[in-house]
Amino acid sequence: MILVTGGTGLVGSHLLLYLTRKDIKVRAIYRTKNSLKKIRHLFKYYSAEPEKLWANIEWLPADITDIASLESVFDGISHVYHTAAKVSFKPGDKEILMQTNVIGTANLLHLAMDHSIQKFLHVSSIAALGTYDNPVTEQTHWNWKEKHSDYAVSKYLSEMEVWRAGQEGLPVVIVNPSVILGAHFWNDGIGKVIQKIRKGMLFFPPGGNGFVDVWDVVKIMTELMNRKINNASFIVSGYDTSYIEFLTALANVLEKQPPKYKLSRLMAEILYWIGRLTGKGITSRALLNTLFQHPHYSSQKLIDTLDYKFIPFEASIHNLTRHYLKDFKK
Ligand SMILES: NC(=O)c1ccc[n+]([C@@H]2O[C@H](COP(=O)([O-])OP(=O)(O)OC[C@H]3O[C@@H](n4cnc5c(N)ncnc54)[C@H](OP(=O)(O)O)[C@@H]3O)[C@@H](O)[C@H]2O)c1
Repeated sequence: MILVTGGTGLVGSHLLLYLTRKDIKVRAIYRTKNSLKKIRHLFKYYSAEPEKLWANIEWLPADITDIASLESVFDGISHVYHTAAKVSFKPGDKEILMQTNVIGTANLLHLAMDHSIQKFLHVSSIAALGTYDNPVTEQTHWNWKEKHSDYAVSKYLSEMEVWRAGQEGLPVVIVNPSVILGAHFWNDGIGKVIQKIRKGMLFFPPGGNGFVDVWDVVKIMTELMNRKINNASFIVSGYDTSYIEFLTALANVLEKQPPKYKLSRLMAEILYWIGRLTGKGITSRALLNTLFQHPHYSSQKLIDTLDYKFIPFEASIHNLTRHYLKDFKK
């Protein structure tokens, strides 16, 4: 049986939908009934037969930072998709980031080895790579001399745990997605950006980034899991665009004005200090820096390995906003 961690999050829930639509039985872990309720709603939203899909999931309560709660979760498991993580750029979250992303991953790997799991797929991030190459590839290794957020450090250290387990004989594969575009998680990540565009955004950051559709991420994860590919990592980034191009595309579909003015360094500094005080917006210097950078991420290794074609940028944006408009018309 397959185990999915983080099934109540953006990536994990879409992975559960993807697997159960193929009639694959999975076990998933959850922490609160509230987050389960949210995912049940997501299944209803996406499927005409949500109960049929839901019945393919065996939900067990567990916290990845609490190894005792995970013991029974591994019974009869052959493959693990590890998507659970703390995603945060708040300065006060260092401890919880390390606990969840590093210790939590180490706990799962420990149990995976104990239970002779056939394969462990770890969801990392482009944040765990360096940015000094153009384009950034899987060979652009982490460089401590670059400025990193606590989140990035935790994702890098969790990868180190995965590679160590790989060296000890556990078949592992890592994906490094760029910014993931997915619907229904409107209070996090890209969902928040859409909310801001809808309310009217005046300023745009000068940099850019890689973006990828959540359906690409989960499809790629299953393809990597099902092939004889071990001890390898893959950047998963569908397209590369400047923030203004990205924000304009969103604004156009939402029939809103795109932001007009480029964010200056001085203004960003002021927003950063406000963010430090309020815990909202630009809360860390590492986050501030990303707004002014535009690293280019190459998915060539993945494209060559899987002969993969990503969902086009326009289609992703269109889908995302379509779901958004539907959700907010209710
Ligand atoms: N979103 C992006 O743009 C992006 C980009 C690159 C990489 N990634 C990576 O992709 C993965 C999934 O991200 P996401 O966007 O799906 O995150 P998300 O929506 O915030 O979901 C995080 C998931 O992890 C679970 N979780 C957190 N702490 C846990 C703990 N102590 N024990 C058990 N479960 C725990 C959460 O459960 P609760 O519901 O109980 O909180 C939730 O299911 C992460 O590894 C992230 O680093 C994300």
